[in-house]
Amino acid sequence: KFERNTVIVVFGASGDLAKKKTFPALFGLYREGYLDPSTKIIGYARSKLTIAELTERIQPHLKKTNEQSDLKIKEFFKMVTYVSGNYDTDDGYITLRAHIEELEEKCNVEIPHRLFYFALPPSVFLSVAKQIKKLVYAENGFTRVIVEKPFGHDLESARALQNDLAPLFKEKEIFRIDHYLGKELVKNLTVLRFGNQFLNASWNKENLQSVQISFKEPFGTEGRGGYFDSIGIIRDVMQNHLLQILTLVTMERPQSFNPESIRNEKVKVLQAMKPIDVNDILIGQYGKSIDGTKPAYLDDETVKKGSKCITFAAMTFHIDNERWRGVPIMMRAGKALNEGKVEIRLQYKSSYGVFSDIPNNELVIRVQPDAAVYMKFNAKTPGLSNKSQVTDLDLTYSSRYKDFWIPEAYEVLIRDALLEDHSNFVRNDELDVSWELFTPLLNYLEGPDAPQPEVYPYGTRGPKGLKEYMKNHGYALHEKNNCYTWPVTTPK
Ligand code: BG6
Repeated sequence: KFERNTVIVVFGASGDLAKKKTFPALFGLYREGYLDPSTKIIGYARSKLTIAELTERIQPHLKKTNEQSDLKIKEFFKMVTYVSGNYDTDDGYITLRAHIEELEEKCNVEIPHRLFYFALPPSVFLSVAKQIKKLVYAENGFTRVIVEKPFGHDLESARALQNDLAPLFKEKEIFRIDHYLGKELVKNLTVLRFGNQFLNASWNKENLQSVQISFKEPFGTEGRGGYFDSIGIIRDVMQNHLLQILTLVTMERPQSFNPESIRNEKVKVLQAMKPIDVNDILIGQYGKSIDGTKPAYLDDETVKKGSKCITFAAMTFHIDNERWRGVPIMMRAGKALNEGKVEIRLQYKSSYGVFSDIPNNELVIRVQPDAAVYMKFNAKTPGLSNKSQVTDLDLTYSSRYKDFWIPEAYEVLIRDALLEDHSNFVRNDELDVSWELFTPLLNYLEGPDAPQPEVYPYGTRGPKGLKEYMKNHGYALHEKNNCYTWPVTTPK
C-alpha cells in the first residue's frame, strides 16, 4: 500500500505523452481503486492553462468501463491542479513548492512522499531534474522520479546523462520506464518460464532451434518523421522494448523476487551476448504502398532528403553461455508493415525417428494484439486415420480471463513506482550494457560507410530477403511447418 497524500507532479502536463498515457493511467488506477483519493496530482507545464482547459485536453483519453466511470472522472479531476512555469528558471518551481507545501500542510503530512513524472522531451530533461533537486525535493521525506526514453542517443551520451543525474538522485529514487515491461504478457514471462517445469526443462539449446522476437506495426512515421529521422527503428523500439523482452526470455532464474535479484540476472545475460555482427543484419526503409495510396518514408517533408534512416531491421543475437550457445535469437522490428503484432516465438528442434517429418513445435507468446500463449503441437488426426496433424494448446486471454481487469502498461508501472518496486524498471548498469551492445551497430549504420537500406513497399512484410534471413538463422519454414495458421478467435 502506498502512502496517503502522496503528491504526484506531472511535468509536461500539456503534452502528448501526459495526455495520452500518464493522466489516463493515473485515472485508470483511480477508477479501479488503486490510487488513494487523498493523492494530489499536479500538472506542470509552460502553457498557461486553466484547470478547465487541462481537463478538456485530458478527458477524451480517459477510459470509461462502466456507468460509474463518469462519476469517477469527476472525482478524479478534483484531485488535479495545475501550475504553469518555465522548465529552466526558478520562478515556476517556487510557485510549485508553495503549492505542494500548502497541499501537504492542509493534510498534516509529516513525511512527504513526492513523485515527479517526466513526460518531457530530452532537451529539458536535465534542467527539470536540477530544479527538482534544488527547489521541490522532499528533504525530510521520499522523492521518486519517473523518467522515460530516450535515455541518451548512444553509449557516450547515455553515460553523460547518467553522470549528470547521479549527483541529483540516488539510484533507488529513479524509475526508468520502459513501458513494455508493464505489458501483461511480458510480465508473465517469468512465471511461464520458471513456474512451469515442462517449459523450463526445454528452454535451452538442447531443445530449441531458434528464438524470434518480432515487432510489427501497420503504420509509418506519418506526423513524426522529423523526430524519427534522427532515431530510427533501432533506438525507437529495439535497444529498449525488444531488448527488455529478450533479456526476460533468456535470463537465468532469479534467486528471489527481490527487484535487484531480477535485474542482476538481466544484466548478466546482457553481458553474455556477443557483439551484434554488422554484416549479419537486414535493414529496410518503407517506400510507397503498392497501390500508391500510402506515402513513402521519404515523402514526409520533415524528413531529411535522401535519408538512410531505417524503418525496418532484423538482427541476430548469440549468447555465449551454457543455456544458449549456438541458438540464434532473432530480433526484428518494422514500421509500415502488413500487420500490427508483437510476439515471441520459440521454435523447437524437429522430432526424430518415426516422427522426423512432422512439424516442429512452436511456443508463441503473443504480447499484442489479442494476448495469448499457444503451443503448436502434433496430435493424431481423430478417427480411424493414423496420420498426425498440427493443433494447439491455446491460452487466449480474452476467452480464458473474461472477468479480469488487465491493466495498461503505464498503470502497472506508475503503481509499481508508488509502491517503490523497481523490478519492472531499467537499472543504470542495464542501460549501460544495452547501449554497449547497440552503439557499434548504430555507428556503422549512421557512419560514412552506411549501407543503403532496402526499400520495401508500405503494407508488406518488409525487405524481400526476410524469409531467407530467417531460414539462415535456424527458423525452419519448410512445407511441413507451413500447413498451420493459428486461428485468432478473439471477439473484438
Ligand atoms: C514507442 C515508440 O516507444 O513504442 C513508438 O516510440 C511505438 O514508435 C510504440 O509505436 C509502441 O508501443 P505500443 O505499446 O503501442 O506497442
